Amino acid sequence: MPTTNRRVLTLDEFTIREMRAFPQATGELSGLLRDIGLAAKRINVEVNKAGLVDILGDAGKQNVQGEDVKKLDEFANDQMVGVLRHGISCAGIASEELSDFVPFEDKISSQSKYVCMFDPLDGSSNIDVNVSIGTIFSVYRRVTECGIPVTVKDFLQPGNRIVASGYVIYGSSTILVYATKRGVNGFTLDPSIGEFCLSHPDIRCPENGNIYSINHGNFFSFSEGLKKYVELCQTRDKSNGGPYTQRYIGSMVSDVHRGLIKGGIFMYPPTAAKPQGKLRLLYECNPLAYLIEKAGGRATDSKQRILDKVPTKLHERTGFFIGSTKMMDELESFLKEDEEKK
Ligand code: AHG
Ligand code: MN
Ligand code: MN
Repeated sequence: MPTTNRRVLTLDEFTIREMRAFPQATGELSGLLRDIGLAAKRINVEVNKAGLVDILGDAGKQNVQGEDVKKLDEFANDQMVGVLRHGISCAGIASEELSDFVPFEDKISSQSKYVCMFDPLDGSSNIDVNVSIGTIFSVYRRVTECGIPVTVKDFLQPGNRIVASGYVIYGSSTILVYATKRGVNGFTLDPSIGEFCLSHPDIRCPENGNIYSINHGNFFSFSEGLKKYVELCQTRDKSNGGPYTQRYIGSMVSDVHRGLIKGGIFMYPPTAAKPQGKLRLLYECNPLAYLIEKAGGRATDSKQRILDKVPTKLHERTGFFIGSTKMMDELESFLKEDEEKK
């Protein structure tokens, strides 16, 4: 009979162990990560039931119990907001699903030094077709004083001020990966005990890879430099690791996770239809950029490091290029040509 491996640390045990290494730590960040872990478990249960939606009733309609069925991204958003509001480690949130930030004004939450931003469900167009989707989050230290309601300033911080960031993927297994300045660790959900268990300690992104990820349907609105880079991926010779493999799921979180583990590059440039880029700086790009950098990789908007961009609005979008350092270096040598031509 298989037995549970008790030498494997759970997410809670791991965050507490990390906290014990810092005698001055208050435990607030550990608490916040545990709250997010709880939301992830609840979202996971609903994601696994998504295929039953046709049996139980579509979003916007009522289920057999006569309750309203929520869209999964709304459900995920409510879970994230709920755990953070009811916890004691977060003074306010901003979410891709909400038009404005939400201060938590009760006495305990407003004393907290952290704010949290998230994309509750990334890749939501994949829900109906059983493809991996995820949740992306980041934690910042607020810039306003503790004790008063948070303001928009607490959220419009560059990514280089992130304290912790990560994501959860609801895939063939459910994994939570998060980064702090101490490194990047991955935890796989063990459904038999309902706990995230440390499965990928100290993740390092390979320096190089041979997988590139981009929406080829947009090829004709890429810049000249980017077109040339993509063509190089396809035509490089065997002795140079080519031709590269192309993979694009349509859930960035899964595409970036593959690059983190196997080495690779993910690109979502500005396009004719979306001249500012499609992906959101605060909810999607910054958290992944922080995490990949902590694992040894890089992320840019083609001109500057993602983490140095100073946001001007909550739902700001950006071009996004992220992955293994050597692939990023090569890509940038092509993108530089575009700049020189301007
Ligand atoms: P979301 O589901 O949160 O709106 O994000 C979807 C994003 C990203 O995850 C994915 O890589 C990209 O949109 C796919 O866009 P295209 O269909 O334009 O390639
Ligand atoms: Mn998204
Ligand atoms: Mn989303």
